[in-house]
Amino acid sequence: MARIFSGIQPTGHLHLGNYLGAIRNWVRLQQDFECLFCVVDMHAITLWQEPQALARATRETAAAVLAAGIDPHANILFVQSAVPGHAQLAWIFNCVARIGWLSRMTQFKEKAGKHRENASVGLYAYPNLMAADILLYKATHVPVGEDQKQHLELTRDIAQKFNNDFGVTVFPVVEPLILGPATRIMSLRDGTKKMSKSDASDFSRINLTDTADDIALKVRKAKTDPAPLPETPAQFDGRPEAANLISIYAALADQEVERVCARFGGRPFSDFKQELADAAVAVLAPITTEVNRLMADPAALDRILKDGAERARALAAPVLEEVYRAVGFLDA
Ligand code: TRP
Repeated sequence: MARIFSGIQPTGHLHLGNYLGAIRNWVRLQQDFECLFCVVDMHAITLWQEPQALARATRETAAAVLAAGIDPHANILFVQSAVPGHAQLAWIFNCVARIGWLSRMTQFKEKAGKHRENASVGLYAYPNLMAADILLYKATHVPVGEDQKQHLELTRDIAQKFNNDFGVTVFPVVEPLILGPATRIMSLRDGTKKMSKSDASDFSRINLTDTADDIALKVRKAKTDPAPLPETPAQFDGRPEAANLISIYAALADQEVERVCARFGGRPFSDFKQELADAAVAVLAPITTEVNRLMADPAALDRILKDGAERARALAAPVLEEVYRAVGFLDA
């Protein structure tokens, strides 16, 4: 039986990229698999977070997942820090993974930047915690984007080394789940940069909290080029903004990029932008309304998350027992 684990970092200001790139895929997975969806607040604090903002972002991210259509009864939706097994297994993996393996992680290099000596130890060990997330439930499949592939490879290496070191077969080999052509949503101001909450310009992204008017304005102001819309994806070369807007439309309308090109190719951007704004509002407005409704009743939201954490703990308990026995720890 396939079991899926996926994590999303709690970031305030969720945007269209988070929705189309991750959350929406989860909604599709829940029909076919047993799924655990986790808001990974422990990963978030590898970079300093203002505590109240973190708590709010954790709820808001969970609310967005629910609003997008995840059924919390059919799946397990929970917050990472509510299940201590993640930290317990991560420590053991800190002792299994090699410093050399972690030193090769490109995400660490990017996030630590020039001040590597000053980065938290947690940021360095981040992939070990991610491996613990996945393996604590013996998940068999993890939906991954390009940026997390290296971390998933490391998870496989850790699982194998653990099994080898202790002469057991506790952990399965985890497979990546590549979900069709990756939807990489780029900035509305620069088609070569990923849409990001940390971009200085709010016009670079469509937030899940934007009103219909905000969305229409941002789409109208989105960067384009003077040529009419490309007629085929082959004409995307050198036109990152056109490629991005068409990809966004295709994702929102759930259509092939080719079809979108065939429909709008040769027409001016002004026509297309109107339709793009309408499509974005049609998809996001109901989600935004539902996020706002859920955020207005944090106690109800917390009950859903608490129930998820209880069920996650129950799944984790026997795995952790097996790990303890393999390592030589006395029963917890
Ligand atoms: N590192 C992932 C990201 O930044 C989030 C994450 C944490 C995750 N644990 C995970 C994703 C386990 C998949 C499986 O996107």
